[in-house]
Amino acid sequence: MRKGFDWAAYVRGFHDAAPGVTEAVLSRTLAGGHTPYRWLARAVSPRAQLIVDLACGSGAMSRELALPGRTVLGVDLAESELRLASERSEGPWVCADGLALPLADASVDAVVSSMGAVVIQPAHALFTEVGRVLRPGGVFAFTAPTVLPLHPRDLVTSLGVVGRLRSLPRFPGPTEITGYKDALIGTGLRKVEDARERYHFEVATLQDAEVIVSALYLPTTSARRRAAAVEWLVDRTAKEGPVRISLAMRRFLVLKQPVATRGPEL
Ligand SMILES: C[S@@+](CC[C@H](N)C(=O)[O-])C[C@H]1O[C@@H](n2cnc3c(N)ncnc32)[C@H](O)[C@@H]1O
Repeated sequence: MRKGFDWAAYVRGFHDAAPGVTEAVLSRTLAGGHTPYRWLARAVSPRAQLIVDLACGSGAMSRELALPGRTVLGVDLAESELRLASERSEGPWVCADGLALPLADASVDAVVSSMGAVVIQPAHALFTEVGRVLRPGGVFAFTAPTVLPLHPRDLVTSLGVVGRLRSLPRFPGPTEITGYKDALIGTGLRKVEDARERYHFEVATLQDAEVIVSALYLPTTSARRRAAAVEWLVDRTAKEGPVRISLAMRRFLVLKQPVATRGPEL
């Protein structure tokens, strides 16, 4: 990847052109009947009343977190995504940069982000901002794509797609917690969980093939290469029936240090 590549401009253009594309894939990406959105929601306490869904996109995660008496504030930089989110549910939706949240210090119970932490950079600035708005004892739960725990046989279809694209999908930020370790230093946040889950997206039609390929960040790949990947997938389904593309995800949970309480005086 060229040094100095303008990821922010690429991501902005990508989501303006195809709002809702991440949800179109993740809402059909399954492991034992649940989506990555459901998995991430499970990391949040049912007692959390004010939650920020950071980089909410078209709002799938916010809807997953909805509970009576709870407010989920969806925040995203792309107006096109927020327009779609507001057509799908009430919100509140806020157009803002994840690095400058329009929220008071220590004002929210949890921050959640499906695939946002791999996009909003630099990671240290993101964690600092999340640490600022979280109340002590609050959590930041986020998902990121990864490679492990894919089994070699899971890789066959993915490698076929990557071979036609002639490049790997990329993200602006790190997808492994090692990439986040240094970024947590000095933010008041501490890692408490790093879990993995393996998901599958089923491709049975041309539309399925188009949606999965169009949801990938491929800043150096031509339209011709994308079309070749779609064509290869369609060809495989014609020969073998529906094919599964494996997607491994990690779920990270970081905690804002609770305020130290003094023990009872003896
Ligand atoms: C991969 S999508 C994830 C969308 C959604 N969370 C989901 O999983 O369906 C990344 C989202 O990050 C948003 N985004 C990128 N940079 C941002 C920033 N600095 N602040 C807030 N949102 C940002 C994009 O507009 C996009 O909606």
